[in-house]
Amino acid sequence: MPSGRNADGGRLSGPTSKPKLPVDLRNVMRYFASGVTVVTSALDTGEPFGLTVTAFTSVSLDPPLVLVCIRNESSAASLLKKSRRYCVNILSSGQKDISDRFSLAGESRRFDGLEYRVGRVGNPIIGGCIGHIDCKVVRVTVLGDHTVFVGEALDIQAARAEPLLYLDRKYALLAPGGHPG
Ligand SMILES: Cc1cc2nc3c(=O)[nH]c(=O)nc-3n(C[C@H](O)[C@H](O)[C@H](O)COP(=O)(O)O)c2cc1C
Repeated sequence: MPSGRNADGGRLSGPTSKPKLPVDLRNVMRYFASGVTVVTSALDTGEPFGLTVTAFTSVSLDPPLVLVCIRNESSAASLLKKSRRYCVNILSSGQKDISDRFSLAGESRRFDGLEYRVGRVGNPIIGGCIGHIDCKVVRVTVLGDHTVFVGEALDIQAARAEPLLYLDRKYALLAPGGHPG
């Protein structure tokens, strides 16, 4: 008898009756253009960690809440459950290498030679970004194969700059003159 997990991560007791989607969700999400962020944090020992994330959105203005969705199997998911804080660093157009580094390089080498400072929440804040949102984790929810980390913003900074974009599994930049301001 087949069994599986439902959307909120709980075990299904009986047979799964849901029809299989004809296409993978990724096949449509690839056409949803997004910015690119690096989510950074640190353990109590001070050891930094982080990963590239596009699954980021604001949730509430009052209180100021954001969320990031992190694959359950990534090492960042278990580390974030321990650190209970993170900083969303919004990458600028010249930071493709940083996105690659935080998605491809071995976890221990991602901060090597990187320009960053430690903010007052204790998270690494990467230099040259468009802005950052420094958070404490206020809710952790496992949903399917990802974990949603809701963060309350304790410190925010922004600078006007061209963003790094991600569309159709490739990096993209705004067309010249495309920045509204
Ligand atoms: C553009 C881009 C966006 C990504 N977005 C996410 C994301 O939203 N959530 C996620 O869990 N992984 C995302 N990844 C994949 C992680 O960055 C990658 O799996 C990373 O190696 C995980 O690190 P870890 O296993 O050391 O925690 C993305 C990768 C790229 C290149």
